[in-house]
Amino acid sequence: MGKRKLKNTKYRKHHDSTHAKHAPKKPFSAKHPQPPPKAAPKPEKSAKQQAPTKSPQHSRPEIPFDPHDRILLVGEGDFSFSLSLLTHHGCADLTATCLDSAEELLRKYTQAAGHIEELEAEGMSVLYGVDATKLGKRRELRGKEWDRVVFNFPHVGGKSRDVNRQVRYNQELLVAFFRAALPLLAPDGTIIVTLFEGEPYTLWNIRDLARHVGLKVGRSFKFSAEAYPGYRHARTLGNIEGDGGWKGEDRPARTYVFEKAEEGERAKEPKSKRRRDEETDEDSEDG
Ligand SMILES: C[S@@+](CC[C@H](N)C(=O)[O-])C[C@H]1O[C@@H](n2cnc3c(N)ncnc32)[C@H](O)[C@@H]1O
Repeated sequence: MGKRKLKNTKYRKHHDSTHAKHAPKKPFSAKHPQPPPKAAPKPEKSAKQQAPTKSPQHSRPEIPFDPHDRILLVGEGDFSFSLSLLTHHGCADLTATCLDSAEELLRKYTQAAGHIEELEAEGMSVLYGVDATKLGKRRELRGKEWDRVVFNFPHVGGKSRDVNRQVRYNQELLVAFFRAALPLLAPDGTIIVTLFEGEPYTLWNIRDLARHVGLKVGRSFKFSAEAYPGYRHARTLGNIEGDGGWKGEDRPARTYVFEKAEEGERAKEPKSKRRRDEETDEDSEDG
């Protein structure tokens, strides 16, 4: 793999100076070696502890990736997000995947060809036909572990015009994805999902879905597309001519970082609350 200079240092995290000098040099051929020790994480401040004035922490978008992370991306669109992680954040251990076959992908997003070429030229792994709900079935993904498993803007596509049905399909996608991704996580690994804000996405109740499969939200924060230069939100159907300039990058979105829930954590919830949560999920089901 070539040694790559970061194109843009503006979005590096405050502690990235430790990693940046190592990460791009990491040989991809040594796939998933023991990662170099990470800088001790800074304790997160509660909202109350945060200074009321605008601190650098506030003005900088939060980036939940370190250059040393072993990152598996599923449901990629035109692979511009993966490429931005490589070129702008120095993440050099990427396995970038999409559901479509290579032919279908290039038919949908012609720009993907260039992105994939760049990724592969730097030794990144690009896989087609990877179903995020059946990750364990892919030979290439077995027996490995990842620090981050990422699904940006998961969506089944326009399967139904009925909102409840559509919500249900997307919930099923997420739950099956969570279940498939969990066994692939490194001990401190996290699953990172970004969704648009507002309805119908709030109806998906992503936090509840995660809790049911043994995950919890470690943190969530505003997703800033501008922190990933080159990234263009891809629509499930593909590039759409004359879509009125609709840009997913301009819409408010939120990133959720899911961690494995501690043993017994769920059991600690009061029984009545657990029932209520389960009923909430039932309510959003298509009847
Ligand atoms: C709205 S697009 C987002 C694409 C891309 N992640 C982005 O941010 O531009 C939703 C993506 O989810 C993918 N998807 C839907 N079901 C999937 C599945 N079972 N496995 C993998 N990807 C899936 C679609 O192929 C599509 O690329």
